Amino acid sequence: MRHLMSPLDLTTAELDRIFDLANDIERNIEKYAHACDGKILATCFYEPSTRTRLSFESAMIRLGGRVMGFSDAASSSATKGESVSDTIRVISCYADICAMRHPKEGAPMVAAEKSGIPVINAGDGGHHHPTQTLTDLLTIRSLKGYLGGFTIGLCGDLKFGRTVHSLINALVRYEDIRFIFISPEELRVPDYITDMLKENCIPFKEVIRLENVMPELDLLYMTRVQKERFFNEEDYVRLKDFYILNTERMNLAKKDMLVLHPLPRVNEISVEVDDDPRAVYFRQAQYGVYVRMALILTLLEITV
Ligand code: NCD
Repeated sequence: MRHLMSPLDLTTAELDRIFDLANDIERNIEKYAHACDGKILATCFYEPSTRTRLSFESAMIRLGGRVMGFSDAASSSATKGESVSDTIRVISCYADICAMRHPKEGAPMVAAEKSGIPVINAGDGGHHHPTQTLTDLLTIRSLKGYLGGFTIGLCGDLKFGRTVHSLINALVRYEDIRFIFISPEELRVPDYITDMLKENCIPFKEVIRLENVMPELDLLYMTRVQKERFFNEEDYVRLKDFYILNTERMNLAKKDMLVLHPLPRVNEISVEVDDDPRAVYFRQAQYGVYVRMALILTLLEITV
């Protein structure tokens, strides 16, 4: 039985198979409509979510399966003091696969150890968010045609953003990638990540101003300042609108640069950018359903 805790749990060959499957699902969705007949997905969300939970549910429903779960820790037995280990042992009796989001780093991993069904980490604190990374990689591969050989700018909250941490971890396995980290000093990418890049001789630079690096980028990954992980409101208010991507800044970029964002967006991308063909964040959300369908089939070892 396999779980998915970090993007590194899958080899690049396995990722390619998942992306090929996701592309086939996109083209022939009706072929998969009964692939998970009789199967149940549990979504255990101890932290708010719109996209991740609903895209998992949409994925399972589109595969013919059913879904159940909770979207708020307050409505689960966590409020009575139940551990995630006990919760998952019980959920294992009710469902065939589980997607779990938790504010504590490592909680889905603790659950996986006691689980009788595959557990997917749907985001654990500021740590990892592997299915967002699968979504990001599928979007890049589908729209650029390849993974590798590009300069990617990651902009915003690089300290607390788990999507950023997972994406960097996943991308270092591809050829010829250069990272530009764009953040205020307080929200710099953690040292363990820059140390890992140095050890692996992967080129990166850290800058504060987005305008200065716009022309160099093949991909721009914008992120929200993670309000819920700040220790005080004052710091959040000071940093929340540090970056605003607008038409003027987009004019500095390459004609084929793509803008990605895991969403939700707050103010970091102005709505005027939505009509730019290079803004692909809503298409990215659609790819999130196809890739989760492919992942569910892979972890349940179902072939169509
Ligand atoms: C992200 C998350 O939850 O980390 N959202 C998502 O899953 N698409 C990003 C965010 O909340 O900013």
